[in-house]
Amino acid sequence: MHPDVQKVLLTEEEIRDRVKQLGQQISRDYQGKKVLVVGILKGAMIFLADLVRNISIPTYFDFMAVSSYGSSTQSSGAVRILKDLDRSIEGKHVLIVEDIVDTGLTLKYLVENLNSRGPESLKICTLLDKPERRTVDINAHYKGFTIPNEFVVGYGLDFNERYRNLPYVAVLKPEIYQG
Ligand code: IMP
Repeated sequence: MHPDVQKVLLTEEEIRDRVKQLGQQISRDYQGKKVLVVGILKGAMIFLADLVRNISIPTYFDFMAVSSYGSSTQSSGAVRILKDLDRSIEGKHVLIVEDIVDTGLTLKYLVENLNSRGPESLKICTLLDKPERRTVDINAHYKGFTIPNEFVVGYGLDFNERYRNLPYVAVLKPEIYQG
């Protein structure tokens, strides 16, 4: 285990099993259709890479990068697009893939923004959900795990851009968060 980690919340195996189930469920739900997976950089990249390898229907990708103004552990609610989609999503079945829904502010903004571009359908798939922290009414259609109100890292999620490459989801030792 990494020396900065206090506890592992989700092991590699638990994640692998759940991601496989999600991929199978998505493949069933979109049977006969094509899906455009919109990955939200950078946090969702590892989840997305594993998820799409478990999807059996025709799958296309595009990416967006957004940043919420605020400190590294508290989001302020204002969202800025750092990288927009390469192509139009009009008439397409769009599946947003996100790492975590925390306050929900980022996703609420993304859903409103992408819905205004005329997709045929728009759904959300998130690896993690922290419902205790929600300040806006938004819910993912596909959820990997519901977790308690703790700041987590690993499997794509960062603290100050670190720890994204940990293969599990973990909580860091308090002294690390305090810097
Ligand atoms: P929201 O807008 O508050 O729902 O938060 C959205 C973004 O904040 C996520 O996409 C993450 O990048 C980041 N975030 C929220 N909670 C955590 C966490 O526990 N660990 C790492 N990043 C987080």
